[in-house]
Amino acid sequence: MQAKIHFLHKDGKELPSSLKKQHIDFGKITIRYYQESPILFVGLATEKRELEAVKHLAANIRRAAVKEGFIGLDLPLDQFQASDEEIGAFFEGWYLAGYQFNKYKKNSTNMKVELNYHPDYQPLDQLGKTVAEAVATARDLCNEPARVLTPSHYADRLVQMFRATKVEVKIFSGEELQKHFPATNRVGEGSAHSPRVAILTLANGGSQSIGLVGKGVTFDTGGISLKTGSDIVDMKMDMGGSAAVVGAVKLAADLDLPVNVTAILPLTENIPGSRAYLPSDVIVYKDGTTVEVGNTDAEGRLILADGLLYAQSIGADVIIDIATLTGSIGNALGLKVAGIFCNQSLSIETCQEISRKSGDSIWPMPLVDDYASLLASPTADLKNVGKSPYGGAVIAAEFLKHFISPKHKWYHIDMANTVTPFEENGYYSKGAAGFGVRLLAELIKQEEGI
Ligand code: BES
Ligand code: ZN
Ligand code: ZN
Repeated sequence: MQAKIHFLHKDGKELPSSLKKQHIDFGKITIRYYQESPILFVGLATEKRELEAVKHLAANIRRAAVKEGFIGLDLPLDQFQASDEEIGAFFEGWYLAGYQFNKYKKNSTNMKVELNYHPDYQPLDQLGKTVAEAVATARDLCNEPARVLTPSHYADRLVQMFRATKVEVKIFSGEELQKHFPATNRVGEGSAHSPRVAILTLANGGSQSIGLVGKGVTFDTGGISLKTGSDIVDMKMDMGGSAAVVGAVKLAADLDLPVNVTAILPLTENIPGSRAYLPSDVIVYKDGTTVEVGNTDAEGRLILADGLLYAQSIGADVIIDIATLTGSIGNALGLKVAGIFCNQSLSIETCQEISRKSGDSIWPMPLVDDYASLLASPTADLKNVGKSPYGGAVIAAEFLKHFISPKHKWYHIDMANTVTPFEENGYYSKGAAGFGVRLLAELIKQEEGI
């Protein structure tokens, strides 16, 4: 059945007799039938319309339509009285809500609903759809079981995904990987599924070279320092940082952004086995830095350091890494807001604006150089874990900072707490949130002044 949307604004003057004042509240959706013709009344009364609220509103309209069995909706966008940014957000929320990871399900809900609207809005529809598809790419990678998404399978998917696009893909494996990415090689040694490092290059103009590094641990058991506890299934999403980078590169390419981006994705399992790396091992990095392994569960920082050194060796001006790095970041910020560290000044206002535009929330975290002493090792230049039980996310950031020369502008995003959604509602469904795709795209745009 085909249905119509009718937006209700502040004064409620146009309210049909069967509706009351509260039906105009923002986000309220009420369905009424007039001689078999359904109308979805959508409340829009509010002082301030946040982009996130518009995205969730669109998602809730889609869910309501699916529930009622509507196959099409007339969307009166003029009556919506919204800016282009808000209409773009509406489409983005609409498409994000259509996401399902149902490849392993016998039965699943059909989320298909056709939107009919004035063709003038086509470009905004296309933009929202492109953004949602990039987020869906990251969600798909995160939701895939770890035995399917092994490092080599992940690498194959990337080759496939970027075939016939402007993005070049190079995959490191075997001896070449061992030479350039020694820590990734060591972390992966316990697994029958050997590691890979994927390099994605999008050379599409832009004033500077941007290096993106994403943690791609396809399953984190903790290794010999084995994890305990029941939530270990979520560790299939320990490649969420790399998935965010993949989505962001796809988005930059699909939108034809004039940027010069190189993504470095160390892909590995972290699992115990007779060949697994051990606490007490010393890893020798490409630049000669040595690291003593204090705990094999602090593997993310080890492989990211490989990526950071590589990004510098190829001359990246700005380096952004993103990772499901520490449980500690969730203790600091809860389950909605990721932490961002920067070796140059980064204001709260900038973080708020990036969060508002992208929908992925971030808050600035401090680099505290005094804590670097906690990473001292009796054997090597530093250890991969700190002596203190406090401030684990900051200590991890200090570990990474050790590998960054101050000539480079560097951002580090710890998203361990946001890889799955804070709440499964609106445009978020069960499983991965697809966090970081829109955030990275926004950060890149900001760095390039786009
Ligand atoms: N992958 C985990 C971090 C994580 C925790 C991601 C919870 C998602 C949800 C990381 O590799 C890890 O195990 N970190 C340890 C570090 C510790 C051993 C210093 C942690 O945060 O407990
Ligand atoms: Zn770990
Ligand atoms: Zn991990």
